[in-house]
Amino acid sequence: MVELKDIHQLALMDDLPIAIVIITQSDHKIQWLNNHAELWLQRSRQSLLNKSLSELTENPELLALPISRVSATGGPVIAEDIALRRADEANTLCHLTAFPVGNNVALIIREEPAGRVTGRSLQDSDAVEALGRMLAHELKNPLAGIKGAAQLLASEAKSDEAKELIALITTETDRIRRLADRMEAFGSISMESLEAVNIHTVLRQTRLLAQSMNGEIAFNENYDPSLPDVSGNRDALMQVTLNIIKNALEAIVQHKTGNEITLQTAYRAGMSRSETGRKLALPVEIRITDNGPGIPGHIRSQLFHPFVTDKPAGRGLGLTLVSKIIHAHGGIIEVSSKPGKTVFSILLPAYQNRG
Ligand SMILES: Nc1ncnc2c1ncn2[C@@H]1O[C@H](COP(=O)(O)OP(=O)(O)O)[C@@H](O)[C@H]1O
Ligand SMILES: [Mg+2]
Repeated sequence: MVELKDIHQLALMDDLPIAIVIITQSDHKIQWLNNHAELWLQRSRQSLLNKSLSELTENPELLALPISRVSATGGPVIAEDIALRRADEANTLCHLTAFPVGNNVALIIREEPAGRVTGRSLQDSDAVEALGRMLAHELKNPLAGIKGAAQLLASEAKSDEAKELIALITTETDRIRRLADRMEAFGSISMESLEAVNIHTVLRQTRLLAQSMNGEIAFNENYDPSLPDVSGNRDALMQVTLNIIKNALEAIVQHKTGNEITLQTAYRAGMSRSETGRKLALPVEIRITDNGPGIPGHIRSQLFHPFVTDKPAGRGLGLTLVSKIIHAHGGIIEVSSKPGKTVFSILLPAYQNRG
């Protein structure tokens, strides 16, 4: 978790094109705000420092609710219709996303669509990209420790099974590290170097990893062996399948319905999307189906948005990353869901050998 004393983290947040205010968990005092929040609130950092919530709103009790809930649950909380006050203006209705940062709570403030547009308008994707950069930085911190611990364990492991699992930890931390490096450099998954990826190898490896997380759920695999390689980034595609499968596992376990995840591939000749005037064929389909509870109705329309989650300790970033990666591949992702059947379908371009 980020500690406030970590100046580097604050500098990162300062650059994000979204308004962030940091409040202490203990006494709800304003601890810090980023550049964008200063602009949006039209108040200087100095004038707000150590002030109470009543500086931001006429209803401090309402604003205190999501902050207290974050303290209680330790996870992110979304609050809608909170009226915030800016220097010289009437109240503005906002969406808030509150999440824990060390001993504090960070509030991401977004004006509700009906509200007046201020200064520069904010593109969703800008915010997500900047956030991606910050997250990548976060991801990398614990990795060296995890890998070091795995290497220590490896030297003591006796059984083949233990050795295999430890090798899994090492290759996975390496993969996440490469992915985080790319995200940090580009703010998103950059596709400047596409390679030929065998999607079946990716799916099989993800299935192994998922099985090591939960041995009670049955996996079915149904692959079209004649499928061409896809054009993409192997680490990133592995993250996509892992995030989707992990959600299916978690839904099944959390709601105690379902017991089965099916991985399929197929050739879809007619599929394409138009991109800057030309058509990009997307013939490779990956389908991940589970017979769990289905995606909760209130989540469906915002499934790929950041911080949307129904899990007590969820971050709501897994599917945001998935859609970013698929988008970077020029692909398409579709979801259909009802109780007992949730299907994620991904369409990707085939690799063209330009030799
Ligand atoms: N296979 C699934 N079955 C049921 N719900 C799902 C499934 N996949 C995703 N969801 C819902 O989508 C939400 C967002 O998923 P994600 O972005 O990965 O964030 P997180 O896993 O941290 O909650 C989950 O909290 C869950 O409510
Ligand atoms: Mg997830």
